[in-house]
Amino acid sequence: MGATRVGIIGAGPAGLMLSHLLHRQGIASVVFERRSRDYVESRVRAGVLEQGSTDLLASTGVGERMIREGLAHDGIKLRFAGEEHRIDFRRLTGKGITVYGQQEVVKDLITQRLADGGEIWFETEATAVEGIEDDDPRIAYRRNGEDATLTCEFVAGCDGSHGVSRTSFPPPRAGEGQGGGVYERSYPFSWLGILGKTPPSSDELIYAYHDRGFALHSMRSPEISRLYLQVDADDTMDAWPEPRIWDELRLRLAERELQPGEIIEAGITPMRSMVTEPMQHGRLFLAGDAAHIVPATGAKGMNLALADVKVLAEALAAWYRSKSRDLLDRYSELCLRRVWRAEHFSAWMTALLHRDPAGDPFDHKLRLSYLRYIVTSEAAATTLAENYVGFENA
Ligand code: FAD
Ligand code: PHB
Repeated sequence: MGATRVGIIGAGPAGLMLSHLLHRQGIASVVFERRSRDYVESRVRAGVLEQGSTDLLASTGVGERMIREGLAHDGIKLRFAGEEHRIDFRRLTGKGITVYGQQEVVKDLITQRLADGGEIWFETEATAVEGIEDDDPRIAYRRNGEDATLTCEFVAGCDGSHGVSRTSFPPPRAGEGQGGGVYERSYPFSWLGILGKTPPSSDELIYAYHDRGFALHSMRSPEISRLYLQVDADDTMDAWPEPRIWDELRLRLAERELQPGEIIEAGITPMRSMVTEPMQHGRLFLAGDAAHIVPATGAKGMNLALADVKVLAEALAAWYRSKSRDLLDRYSELCLRRVWRAEHFSAWMTALLHRDPAGDPFDHKLRLSYLRYIVTSEAAATTLAENYVGFENA
C-alpha cells in the first residue's frame, strides 16, 4: 500500500463503504475503529436498504450475500384504529426495498476490505483531528494504550454523532451566513428495540399507530424478528421485563400470531434529528451519522450514510485524477438536499405514527385523519411511498 491518502474515522457503514470505494479507485486509506471487530459486527441497528443502497452494494462487488439472503419487499402495512392497509411501493413507484441487517452490511464490507488487503485498525480510538485547514491533516489516536499520530491528505469523519470529528469543526453559527450551523430536534419519546427468536408473523413490515403509542414489526430472517415500541424518553430497560414487551407488542401491533421468543438483543434508542451544515471544513469531510441523525421511523440512517460516501468517493477520485477541487468543494451541497429530504420525511413519519405525550385528543384525531387520508388518496400514498423507497430528485 502507498502513503495514506485518506484517514477514515469509524468502521460503520459510512467508513467501511468509503474505504471500499476508494480502494476501487486505487486510493489508499486507513480506517480507525475504537471498538473490536466482533463488536461492530454484532451491533444490531438499521435494517432497510433503499434501491440506491442495494445497487451500490451490488455494483461494487459487496452485494452477493445481500442478494442471496436479503428479503425483497414491495410494500409495507399500516395499522391504526383496528384497520390494516397496505402501501404498495412497487405499484406506486416501480421500486421496492430490501430488508438486510446493518451488521450484515458491515460484515460483508469488512470481509471484502480485508480480502483486498485493506487497513482497518480495530480497537484504535481517534482522539483528535488536527490541522484540517492545512494540506497535511493529522489524526491523533490511541492504540494499545499508546498515543500516536497519522498524517494524511484528507480526513473522513465517519464516527457517528458522538465521535471526535465533529468536535474539530469551527464552532457552529446556526442561522448565520449561508445557513451554517447545527440544526437539532429531540423528541419526547424513545424506541425500545428487540431482536427476537421468533418467526415474523407478517411477510411485510407493519407500522402501527395505537392509542398507547407506536409499534413496528420488522424482521431479519424467517426465524428472527426485529420489533420496536415507542417508550417514554426517560424509560430504562428495568421498566420493560420481557412479558411486558411481548404483551405490548401484540396489543399495539394487533398481532395475535406473534409468538414470544427468546430476546437475543434489546436496547433503548432516543429519537433525534440533527444536521451539521456544511458537512465539510478544509480537509475534513463528515459523512453518515457524524453529519446528520434521523429518527428511525423513516428507515433512512444507513441509506444516507451510504449515499454520502458515494458522493465523497467520487469527489476524492476526481481530485486524485485531475487535482480538480470542484466536486470536493460541492460535497456538502451535493449531499444536503438528499439529507434534508430524508430529515423531513423522517420527522413527518415520526409525527404521523407516534403518540405525543403532551398531545391532546384533538391531536390524536388529526393524526387518525391524516393516516386515513394516506390510505385512501393515491397522491398521499405516493408521497409516502416515493420517500420511503428513496426520492432520487431531492
Ligand atoms: P456508525 O454506524 O455509528 O459508525 C460509526 C463508527 O465510528 C462506530 O463503529 C464507532 O464505534 C466508531 N467511532 C466513534 N468514535 C470513534 C473514535 N473516536 N475513534 C474511532 N472510531 C470511532 N437506523 C435505522 O434506520 N433503523 C434503526 O433501527 C436504527 N437503530 C439504531 C440504533 C442505535 C443505537 C443507533 C446509534 C443508530 C440506529 N440507527 C438506526 C441509525 C443507523 O444505524 C445509522 O444511521 C448508521 O449506523 C450510520 O452509519 P455510520 O457509518 O454513519 O455510523
Ligand atoms: C429495522 O428493521 O430495524 C427497521 C425497519 C424500519 C424502520 C426502522 C428499523 O423504520
